[in-house]
Amino acid sequence: MTSDTRPDEDGAVTPAAQRRAPGGRVALRGDLRAALPDATAAVVVTALVFAFLYARMGSGASDTVAVMPFMDDPGTYWMYLLSQAFGWSGLLWAWGTVMLGLLLSGPRPARLPVSRQVLERWHRTTSLTTMALMSAHALMFAAELVRYETKVAWAERLWVAFADSFVPGWYDSGTGRIAIPLGQGALYLAIPLGLLFYVRHRIGANTWRRLHRFVIVVYVLSVWHTLLYGTNVWYGEWPRTALWLLQLPVAVLLLLRLLKPARRAEKLGPPGGGTARPAWWARAAGRAVAAAVVVGLIAVVVSDRDGGRDRPAHQPATAPHAQETD
Ligand code: HEM
Repeated sequence: MTSDTRPDEDGAVTPAAQRRAPGGRVALRGDLRAALPDATAAVVVTALVFAFLYARMGSGASDTVAVMPFMDDPGTYWMYLLSQAFGWSGLLWAWGTVMLGLLLSGPRPARLPVSRQVLERWHRTTSLTTMALMSAHALMFAAELVRYETKVAWAERLWVAFADSFVPGWYDSGTGRIAIPLGQGALYLAIPLGLLFYVRHRIGANTWRRLHRFVIVVYVLSVWHTLLYGTNVWYGEWPRTALWLLQLPVAVLLLLRLLKPARRAEKLGPPGGGTARPAWWARAAGRAVAAAVVVGLIAVVVSDRDGGRDRPAHQPATAPHAQETD
């Protein structure tokens, strides 16, 4: 540890430049600056995914077009494609930041390629990037709806796009009635749960730690939303299987983190040994659920029963929802 750093209450090391403001604002500003290379990488990944989706739509190989045949023009639907691309980079970054968080809070690996402090910094910067990518995904979807709703006046066009994208329960078409609120839930939980870190000196480290645990819910909602609504993983084919498979390392690390937490206070001792019975049972149930998820994921991948639809020979023309009319 260098002389200009000090460990905070989680063992994280805070550079001198981030230490000054008791209000935490400098720490957030410092992390935002540190997230720049990470965010640049995310933009590059998003651009590559966008180019890939654009080319597939242009070539007629797009699954999005197979689900919604009217979308066979990438020049018109480029904002929708960009929203999808931000969705994928957001999910990839969410995967990475959750894996880093679980590595930090679970059993300490004997050897790490980088120091714990570096891992902690990566966890914070990737989580900031994830929030930005999730927001960009939702905003591009709203922008596409503004473009799409040509039959109404501008004020209503803006309102409908905003409400469909950001007001839970407003979007009223098909699978989106469930999938969109799941995505909104993930976005609306991610932002406070991620940013609370920067005010943890006000709310107390224990309160922050207790709340921060619920970040796993954000991740589960994001994956659920994608499996339910992503047209590029709509059919029961390998991209969908790969998405399920990617969840296995997360579930294994979560199980290990619960069974062997880094913080001794979180270890599950024998029943009645210092922890109140209801709390002990709740914690034991959490571990059982995590083990069941690992088994469930293996079963899904091995059995290939992954909830994917069969690709029909002929697709009816569908729209994401009917255009609004005055
Ligand atoms: C306000 C919140 C959100 C809204 C309105 C929203 C909207 C949508 C819509 C309309 C789709 C369908 C696109 C398609 O045709 O595939 C979609 C798919 C997707 N969303 Fe979201 N979403 C939200 C939150 C999230 C969050 C938090 C994540 C996590 C990173 C996410 C990741 C994805 C991914 C990966 C897809 C699949 C895209 C594809 O199949 O190419 N979404 N979302």
